[in-house]
Amino acid sequence: MLIVNIKQLCGIQPEGKLRLQGAEMAELPSIENAWLKIEHGKIADFGSMDNLGHTEMLSLAQGTQSEIVDAQGKLVLPTWCDSHTHLVFAASREEEFLMKIQGKTYEEITAAGGGILNSARKLANTSESELYDSAALRLQEVMSLGTGAIEIKSGYGLSYEAELKMLRVIRRLKETFPLPVKATFLGAHAFPQEYKQNQEAYLDMLLNRLLPEIADEGLADYIDAFCEQNYFSIEQTERVIEAGAKFGLKAKIHANQFTNLGATQACVRKGTLSVDHLEVTDNAVIESLKGASTMATLLPSCSLFINIPFANARGMIDAGLGVALATDFNPGTTPSGNMNLVVALACIKMKMLPNEAINAATLNGSYAMDLSTTHGSITKGKQANLIITKAIPSVNFIPYAFGSNLIDSILIKGRKI
Ligand code: NIG
Ligand code: FE
Repeated sequence: MLIVNIKQLCGIQPEGKLRLQGAEMAELPSIENAWLKIEHGKIADFGSMDNLGHTEMLSLAQGTQSEIVDAQGKLVLPTWCDSHTHLVFAASREEEFLMKIQGKTYEEITAAGGGILNSARKLANTSESELYDSAALRLQEVMSLGTGAIEIKSGYGLSYEAELKMLRVIRRLKETFPLPVKATFLGAHAFPQEYKQNQEAYLDMLLNRLLPEIADEGLADYIDAFCEQNYFSIEQTERVIEAGAKFGLKAKIHANQFTNLGATQACVRKGTLSVDHLEVTDNAVIESLKGASTMATLLPSCSLFINIPFANARGMIDAGLGVALATDFNPGTTPSGNMNLVVALACIKMKMLPNEAINAATLNGSYAMDLSTTHGSITKGKQANLIITKAIPSVNFIPYAFGSNLIDSILIKGRKI
């Protein structure tokens, strides 16, 4: 496929550029009036229309290129890399939405029988194939919204059987969908009721019985824990991280969502791949991330939905850090997998510049899934996972027109979906 007359080809990075930090985040290297050639599902070459390659010129003239796409007035950018989702779940939770509208906080809703345990109860009675079918519909939907790589967590099972069931659903999604899917084991999402008074027994089940089985079946790429008051302590989270590491699983940790316990600092010390949420931080949190390989992953649609503070993206970037953006798609705190909304919220509510938000949602998101050698930018040899926008005036229009569907088409491995 040859795409020609691209108004702006955005997000061009050299091979080996795996993430962007600080001031670099504001640069979105682009070519105006560009072409891009796809071969075997990968980006084969690209350049300015002013110097269209000889072979491309010939194939245009002779019509030999199997497919020529005229992108007049349209932008081409890498697909979104959504590095934090809970996309497999049994049922939505509108009942909690009503409670929230009536003034209840997330904590109060949880105390009243809602929250993670509500989803776990529903999932226990749902079959693997039903779970797959509903998750597949959601995955199809988010792909059509521009997501071209995704991470999906377990964590609504909370028992030996149900966590395996969730991870097997994620494995089937990996096998049946064309985009990369990364699986994260989040058994340490909440303590089930029967273990509330015996947390040690739950951790023992998770780390000594379930984790070896998961590793044996190759069901997870990462491990996660919800490090938060009334959930998993720092000490318990550290044990989860260490146990995962023994089986070669890097950690991506829910940190600093409601309280500043020191979770981020602990994760940085352990070298986790990412710390996710970070709505409640201070200077010490930002300081701890300086020079670390850990990516700060921010989830603004969660802040929007449950009315909690937006993460201090501006403070982080101005301190020289890189940030990634992801959806947190889940039935409780973020019933949306729309990365376009996330990018818009990052600009509207977190003062990120459109270029910064796009970099955070593409290359930095791919970094947070160890996919940045193959995804997340316009780079020769990377997968041709591309968003072709409708005809729009500029890159800034993407977050500005936050309620419009600006997508013309999505290519995954060079094929229109
Ligand atoms: O990332 N914070 C922990 N987990 C989810 C919410 C889970 C739920 O309420 O179902 C989150 O926001
Ligand atoms: Fe989450």
